[in-house]
Amino acid sequence: MRAVQITTHDGPGAVRLADVPDPVPAAGEALIAVRAAGVSFPEVLQTRGRYQLSPTLPFVPGSEVAGEVVMAPAGSGLAPGDRVAAFTMLGGFAELAAAPVTRVLPLPDGTSFDQGAALPLNYLTAWFALVQRGRMRAGESVLVQGAAGGVGTAAIQVARAFGAGTVIAVTSTHEKGAVALGAGADTYVLAESFKDDTLAAHPGGVDLVVDTVGDDRFTDSLRCLRDDGRLLVVGFTGGDIPSVKVNRLLLNNISVVGVGLGAYGVTRPTHVREGWNALLPFVENGALAPVIGEVFTLDQADQALRLIDDRRAVGKVLLRP
Ligand SMILES: NC(=O)c1ccc[n+]([C@@H]2O[C@H](COP(=O)([O-])OP(=O)(O)OC[C@H]3O[C@@H](n4cnc5c(N)ncnc54)[C@H](OP(=O)(O)O)[C@@H]3O)[C@@H](O)[C@H]2O)c1
Repeated sequence: MRAVQITTHDGPGAVRLADVPDPVPAAGEALIAVRAAGVSFPEVLQTRGRYQLSPTLPFVPGSEVAGEVVMAPAGSGLAPGDRVAAFTMLGGFAELAAAPVTRVLPLPDGTSFDQGAALPLNYLTAWFALVQRGRMRAGESVLVQGAAGGVGTAAIQVARAFGAGTVIAVTSTHEKGAVALGAGADTYVLAESFKDDTLAAHPGGVDLVVDTVGDDRFTDSLRCLRDDGRLLVVGFTGGDIPSVKVNRLLLNNISVVGVGLGAYGVTRPTHVREGWNALLPFVENGALAPVIGEVFTLDQADQALRLIDDRRAVGKVLLRP
């Protein structure tokens, strides 16, 4: 089959389309004919060897796909031809991908393969962050950093679907602000003045911050929290991993909460399916409708990765084999 490989740690431009042997599913795994694969920030980090999941070179990246089941273990409830999404972790940038059946997820008839490939990583992360780790209550206000990106647009929609009050987006440009509004945010503020603008729009502060950026925005994100507020640490697209002086947490009765979807699932094999079951009704009623950005073919994977690396991506970037 054809697949995109990371062969060196020289960045997005160094990925290669190659002919490789078809994956052989291990016990408990299904084989999927990939129709669309999601491209995300972690794959950009993997091209530089800077992500926590960094296999021996060469390897095929790709954490999520949508497609049709080719082969599945007996008794798994899956059959050839079933339309599915899958959280593959690796191997998705290919014509065929294998995944444990616990991470192969039924795709509703009305959901396209493009939408299906945009759901697993970002929407499960947003659900895990807001609902499980953040314990979001109905009516709580949410500030989303990197709000026009993949996780950001998902977090806006998950917050809405699960009963948030005001949802405020933080974006670097007005164009990205418009994307965040299209995803369902009530308003957006520009990154350069987000603390003052957030506190002006929402005096007293917000209940939750979904932080995909970290870096020098982190302390101002904490300053946006109200009493009992929670900052959800999701990612560090800004580059640096910030530190917190914990007296700030004590004095203001606020929390910083880690969110690591992949790590959480390692010892909880049913976690992904639990999240998917929670999301499905909102996928079916249209409340969760991924914002699809640019779509590329497998041989354009370098362009897809560069788009994210250059901060030009909005919504979900996809590859179609
Ligand atoms: N914890 C988990 O379980 C988990 C799961 C999935 C992803 N993640 C992480 O979540 C983060 C977001 O991933 P994503 O796929 O949503 O990325 P994305 O689509 O590229 O969006 C990231 C956003 O970050 C902002 N940003 C700020 N500084 C940036 C910079 N120097 N370079 C690039 N973007 C910058 C950009 O918004 P503006 O231009 O508007 O500022 C951009 O829209 C990543 O760090 C990823 O590793 C974590």
